Amino acid sequence: MKAWLCSRNAHKARELERLLPGFAIEPLSADDYPPETGETYYANARAKADFGRERSGGREWVLAEDSGIEVSALGGRPGVESARYAPEGAPAIEKLLGELDGVRDREARYVSELVLLTPDGEELRGTGTLEGRIAEEPRGREGFGYDPVFVPEGETRTVAELGDDWKERHSHRARAARALAAALGVAVVLAGCGGTDPTSKRVLRAFFSGGRAARSLGQRFPHDPGTLPCTVYVKGVKLQASCSTDISLVRPARAVVTLTEAWNHGATAHTWFFFIRRDGTVQSVIQEGAPAPRT
Ligand code: IMP
Repeated sequence: MKAWLCSRNAHKARELERLLPGFAIEPLSADDYPPETGETYYANARAKADFGRERSGGREWVLAEDSGIEVSALGGRPGVESARYAPEGAPAIEKLLGELDGVRDREARYVSELVLLTPDGEELRGTGTLEGRIAEEPRGREGFGYDPVFVPEGETRTVAELGDDWKERHSHRARAARALAAALGVAVVLAGCGGTDPTSKRVLRAFFSGGRAARSLGQRFPHDPGTLPCTVYVKGVKLQASCSTDISLVRPARAVVTLTEAWNHGATAHTWFFFIRRDGTVQSVIQEGAPAPRT
């Protein structure tokens, strides 16, 4: 399914495509996006989505996001004005570190608000936050924006050091995408197996116990979220899998469930997509990378 992303930020398009499996996210290029002058992330995201709906002809899926960083010692600034605080990258980081020079309270959080408009114009929303603190100096090369100075709660490295794979599982945008997916009637779970994120565990458990098809799927692909390694059965063959990523996508209105399992052997992750009929039988399997090891 194609969804237009109302953003000029190529990083966001890449991140969101990884976060919303089943959607091909295409950035909507336009020079005249409405100014982000709303008082809330939601107001800005909705304005971008309305603009995108009009530009794309009104009958397409449209996705919009607004995000920002809120710093406690600055009374929550730059917040909804993050994009206008200073030019993104080094200048914004320099300004932020300057404002926090000598300040001991480094508490901060990222916020992401997603708005999805269906072809019928129905609005679905997802919000996500990531708590953390501002480092004394920039470190790391991945991510974008304030990532080189943002250290998530419970971590010692910055988001730019933790990298894009970490972001895909834990970022404010990842959390907003999961909330959006839940609103869509879709269960999307990242880092279900081996992941310690309580929300993923809860959603995964709820998914595998909700309804006959999902229960049958759960029997076929038994999961115990949060455990490593996990065991997966494919055509009756038992596979030991060290799942680093586990995405389950169910659209109740459709006859297909997509289950993605990634196995790590050595440094490589292999992904299999199982297209499963509603009765739980496998319709087809698409495989990326080499086969998972058989044990
Ligand atoms: P907007 O959502 O396009 O208005 O931009 C929000 C601004 O917040 C970006 O330009 C970044 O400066 C910052 N921001 C939002 N998300 C992230 C992130 O994941 N990493 C780093 N900075 C971010």
